Amino acid sequence: MLFQSSVLVTSLIATVTAQLEVRENAPQCCEKLLSSASPAVLPFLGLLGVTIPNPPVDLGICCKPASVSGCDSNCTGGIAVTCAGIPVSVVGVNIGVDCTPIPSCPPPCNTLSTNTSQLFGSNVGDAFNDLTTFVGNSTVTTENVPTIKAITFRFGSVIDGLAVTYAQGPDQGITTIQHGTSLTTVDSGLMNSTLTLGTNETITAVSGQTGNHSPFGIRVLQLTFTIVNSFTAASRVAGPFGSATGTAFTVAGSGSLIALGGSAVNTDRSLNQLQTARGGLYGLSFVTSNGTDCP
Ligand SMILES: *[C@@H]1O[C@H](CO)[C@@H](O)[C@H](O)[C@H]1NC(C)=O
Ligand SMILES: *[C@@H]1O[C@H](CO)[C@@H](O)[C@H](O)[C@H]1NC(C)=O
Ligand SMILES: *[C@@H]1O[C@H](CO)[C@@H](O)[C@H](O)[C@H]1NC(C)=O
Ligand SMILES: *[C@@H]1O[C@H](CO)[C@@H](O)[C@H](O)[C@H]1NC(C)=O
Ligand SMILES: *[C@@H]1O[C@H](CO)[C@@H](O)[C@H](O)[C@H]1NC(C)=O
Ligand SMILES: *[C@@H]1O[C@H](CO)[C@@H](O)[C@H](O)[C@H]1NC(C)=O
Repeated sequence: MLFQSSVLVTSLIATVTAQLEVRENAPQCCEKLLSSASPAVLPFLGLLGVTIPNPPVDLGICCKPASVSGCDSNCTGGIAVTCAGIPVSVVGVNIGVDCTPIPSCPPPCNTLSTNTSQLFGSNVGDAFNDLTTFVGNSTVTTENVPTIKAITFRFGSVIDGLAVTYAQGPDQGITTIQHGTSLTTVDSGLMNSTLTLGTNETITAVSGQTGNHSPFGIRVLQLTFTIVNSFTAASRVAGPFGSATGTAFTVAGSGSLIALGGSAVNTDRSLNQLQTARGGLYGLSFVTSNGTDCP
């Protein structure tokens, strides 16, 4: 439509020739770039019998002055370019001639590197991964990463179940996810103990015990957490939760714990109430992040 005016095209052609001579680096912010060889332009050049720029040049459409510093510009939503001279106004539309885009900044990197430990305990029951519950297949970023606020343990000699409270998303909404024996299970032999993380506190290491604790089978027997305050560098230990012993394990050195994975059968009964029936927490894996994964 723009180029259907022969007045426009004529004056445009005049400027193509004139402005190819001089190259000024006055940055412009143009709505789009069109090749002088594009079907929107070329037929008119031919009809008017004008020399077609060879090789073709890019024309900036609806250009305005931009301020550019390195890869940063105030050209949001447009294309920052330098053209051969200042744009010409053609029926009120500023057209830049022979325009070259200024490389834009790479998008800010906010992706987080994550590492999921092996499964400790056994894989009986339903597999879960709380990180996937929050982010699905998406890349983990500083915006969508969950943060652990509290973990409540239901345990006797072994860990029957736990519930993790996460904050996640732009509004830092709180979600509690239970695995294995529930928080409301009533059994006088079952402890109910909550580890609460304060502001700036993260879990930086987990150690524990796994093993076959008859008659419950292979379970997570004990968990102990090292918590560090990133602001004060103060460190504290919570646990052990559970008292039976088996094979010791440690997950440390991969950053902060951001989510739990594992295997469980959710139930309102303790392992003592279940005895050999299937139920409760069977295995755990630990998803950690050591921060952004930027080049
Ligand atoms: C960018 O900033 C310059 C200088 O401050 C100003 O003249 C121009 O209008 C701005 N351009 C856009 C596209 O906002
Ligand atoms: C992931 O963590 C384990 C320890 O849990 C460590 O051995 C391994 O090197 C880590 N992998 C990466 C890629 O950091
Ligand atoms: C995850 O990715 C797989 C394969 O790319 C796709 O089939 C599946 O629908 C995705 N799931 C979600 C929750 O996005
Ligand atoms: C165990 O603690 C949780 C959270 O602290 C609470 O919601 C729950 O009611 C408690 N359960 C029992 C049986 O005391
Ligand atoms: C948490 O850390 C920030 C700096 O990252 C600090 O400004 C703030 O005072 C800390 N809050 C507490 C309660 O320690
Ligand atoms: C963070 O973890 C990633 C992979 O898990 C690893 O490649 C990277 O070296 C780690 N960075 C630091 C600073 O430990």
